[in-house]
Amino acid sequence: MRSLTCSSATWLRPPGPRLAELIPRRITDVLTRIHHVGIAVADLDESIAVYRAALGAKLLHRALNEQEGLEAAFLSTGDGEVELMRATRPESPVGKFLAKRGPGLHHVAYGVTNIAQALADARAAGLELIDSEPRMGMHGSLIAFVHPKSLGGVLTEFVET
Ligand code: CO
Repeated sequence: MRSLTCSSATWLRPPGPRLAELIPRRITDVLTRIHHVGIAVADLDESIAVYRAALGAKLLHRALNEQEGLEAAFLSTGDGEVELMRATRPESPVGKFLAKRGPGLHHVAYGVTNIAQALADARAAGLELIDSEPRMGMHGSLIAFVHPKSLGGVLTEFVET
């Protein structure tokens, strides 16, 4: 009688490279860490000074986006970054946010190694995307936003790193 036993090692062995290519990647394969948090502020210079003094944050760069009515400053805080954002006009998205909620947490951004994959997986998971395609962000990297109603009321950003 032939033995039908099979060593568990055979079954548990990870798939070879050809098979691995056929298995869809999941967002957990591309999501690396919390990249930064976005904070809406009333006064950008004052807030930069506060974060420098309070947390030893280092100013990485400032950028103005007239189209979105936004000026942002990126500061490094240890492993991650803080994006301080002010509105350049009251009717801009950040201006409306400030009018409605006041200064505070605006969004959480996750670093991903493949933003197209992250968006595809987020869509497959039923999340409502604000950006159906990646676009160039103020970091100089590709970004996309997920609607806050999909993730506990928090506006969520993916940043390709
Ligand atoms: Co951001």
